[in-house]
Amino acid sequence: MTTISLPLSRYQVDSQIAAAVSEGLLSRPKWLPSWLFYDAAGSRLFDQITELPEYYVTRTERAILAARAEEIVERAAGEQALRIVELGAGSCDKTRLLLRAAVDRQDTVVYEPVDVSASALAEAQERLESEISGVLVSPRVLDYTRDFTLEPPYPGERRLLLYIGSSIGNFEPGEAHRLLENVRTALIPGDAMLLGVDMVKDQSVLVPAYDDAAGVTAAFNRNVLVRLNRELGADFDPEAFAHRAVWNAAKSRIEMHLESKEEQAVRLPAVDLRLDFAQGETIHTENSYKYRPGQAESMLRSSGFAQEETWTDEKGWFSVCLARAV
Ligand code: AVI
Repeated sequence: MTTISLPLSRYQVDSQIAAAVSEGLLSRPKWLPSWLFYDAAGSRLFDQITELPEYYVTRTERAILAARAEEIVERAAGEQALRIVELGAGSCDKTRLLLRAAVDRQDTVVYEPVDVSASALAEAQERLESEISGVLVSPRVLDYTRDFTLEPPYPGERRLLLYIGSSIGNFEPGEAHRLLENVRTALIPGDAMLLGVDMVKDQSVLVPAYDDAAGVTAAFNRNVLVRLNRELGADFDPEAFAHRAVWNAAKSRIEMHLESKEEQAVRLPAVDLRLDFAQGETIHTENSYKYRPGQAESMLRSSGFAQEETWTDEKGWFSVCLARAV
């Protein structure tokens, strides 16, 4: 992590955070990048979101993987041994299903989670190695949203790269496409990719999934302000902002915003900013894109993959796509 000490500041500021916050909050409308959600408290709140009755995403994908893990592993491996690589270290619970299927098939499996957070990787390693004998965890600390390389597979080995959990949905379509192209460049022909995408559905299902009755998603959204208070010395009153979740049909995405309940001024001394908010003014904090049938497959094809199979649930709410690097 790069930190900078600003001359007038008592704060050690991560330069990536400082740059993103200044750019976003000086824009009109104001925005903040959604990766800011995931400090320790935000990651805990996200874990709680995945258990909420309204948040169908995690349990629907988990059910597909539980029903298809053996078939996915078999199809991905062909005649070879599988090494499983995962972008992000956060979805252990679903990954476990695939690791167990791989261990059943080949006795041992190397699992390579890729994440910027060394602590998240260490946690995943401890958990998985103690829970599933036969899994060897080989963590890689790197930012997969930039160009990245992977260890080449051993002879006789083929990689299955997992990008599940609908994480691709938090990227703009162009960024999502670039990410898949980067993934393709890091693989070799014959390697496989498993992509989990959330599908368009009625807004009566989508909106509550991002605005739950217990207020967990609201706390997750407001936590970004708590983080700016702590890390940038800002004086946001998180309760002076309302959580909003909106379905944008034209752009096929759920948007999350924080809406100022009143006219107010906020200071962020570490980045030398003073901001005015009108009553009703918003900060756009997240997009979660939802896909139509065939869309993920065509994005995979145009990124250098051949589509092999798509599995979905009976309502067609979530899709898991297997594709082969060509
Ligand atoms: C991590 N990501 C796939 C979640 C989503 O559904 O877009 C983040 C999230 N935001 C609010 N609830 C969940």
